[in-house]
Amino acid sequence: MSKKKTEDTPVKSLPRHQQIVLSGTKPTGENLHLGNYFGALRQFVDLQESHDTALYFIADYHSMTTVRNGAERRRNTVAVALDYLAAGLDPDRAILFRQSDLPEVAELTWILTSVTPMGMLERAHAYKAAMDKGEDIDHGLFTYPVLMAADILLYGSHLVPVGRDQKQHIEMARDMAQRFNRLYECDALVLPEPYILDDTATVPGTDGRKMSKSYGNTISMFAAKGRLKKSVMGIVTDSTPVEDPKDTNQTVFDLWCLFATPEERTEMFDRAAAGGLGYGDVKKDLLARLMDYFEPMRARRAEFEEKPEAVEEILHAGAERAKALATPVLEACRQAAGIGPT
Ligand code: ADP
Ligand code: TRP
Repeated sequence: MSKKKTEDTPVKSLPRHQQIVLSGTKPTGENLHLGNYFGALRQFVDLQESHDTALYFIADYHSMTTVRNGAERRRNTVAVALDYLAAGLDPDRAILFRQSDLPEVAELTWILTSVTPMGMLERAHAYKAAMDKGEDIDHGLFTYPVLMAADILLYGSHLVPVGRDQKQHIEMARDMAQRFNRLYECDALVLPEPYILDDTATVPGTDGRKMSKSYGNTISMFAAKGRLKKSVMGIVTDSTPVEDPKDTNQTVFDLWCLFATPEERTEMFDRAAAGGLGYGDVKKDLLARLMDYFEPMRARRAEFEEKPEAVEEILHAGAERAKALATPVLEACRQAAGIGPT
């Protein structure tokens, strides 16, 4: 093991396609929404094409801070696997697995806790928000960023595609890796970087705030048409009369643009500026585009739903491949820290 200190991010020194991509989704029970898809999942699919190694997992350990029923967690875990496959993640191109199939992540979590200052965790947005709301907070929620760092670092990941709300977690993972490498004078851990697309970093929800399960302002990818219609028609707009020009800086236009080409966007914005465009029409068109866009994914999801053993087999095979990446990283950490035999 070299004693070189890793201050520079190795991401810059590797050819792009050799960088390891990794991300995860918590199985919390809801169908994925437009924020999850455009903020994260769509990038997962793109990056499995452009990169040799991409790992996407279902963060069942993470869901333990909110879901308190085992059967429910199992159901939710399968649901995320189906969403992944429906969205186009391909087990031949990406390693798809269940977080808990590699309990090694729990060992790395412990190792990292010992290089993580309390102050860092006290500054975590999710923890602070829960404190502000006066919630009953358990240690799992407080330690959540350490488990997430272990997820990322265990596989030597370079790039982590996420929405902007997760950026702080990746900075923390980077910080922990740097501290570990420095303290134990090694380069066992790679310093990861977030991969966040500006255009879709924060997809707005029907009320204009960030689209999020916890705000009840989501538009689901796979909900029934009736429910989707209700969500879309409920998007907040200003009260400009139909005949007047419209301000295109509004949620309804932001969401519509997710499904439009740049030319269609220009045309729509010209119509909005001219006046005579009703919000109802924009919403109707958005609903139609949304249904069309997700239709092939819906069909793929239904197909996999019929084959639970095949889905389980995909996760099992993914875990084996993930293990091959995790074992040398964990071993390097153990060696550097003097844990276990030499
Ligand atoms: P939620 O906020 O609804 O609980 P999750 O925390 O499960 O969503 O997020 C899963 C992934 O989707 C993460 O990478 C997150 O950054 C991304 N994401 C969630 N909501 C949005 C959004 N409104 N805009 C962009 N990305 C999002
Ligand atoms: N915390 C992420 C979320 O709420 C899920 C997650 C867990 C994750 N571990 C990760 C994302 C590792 C990226 C990398 O969405």
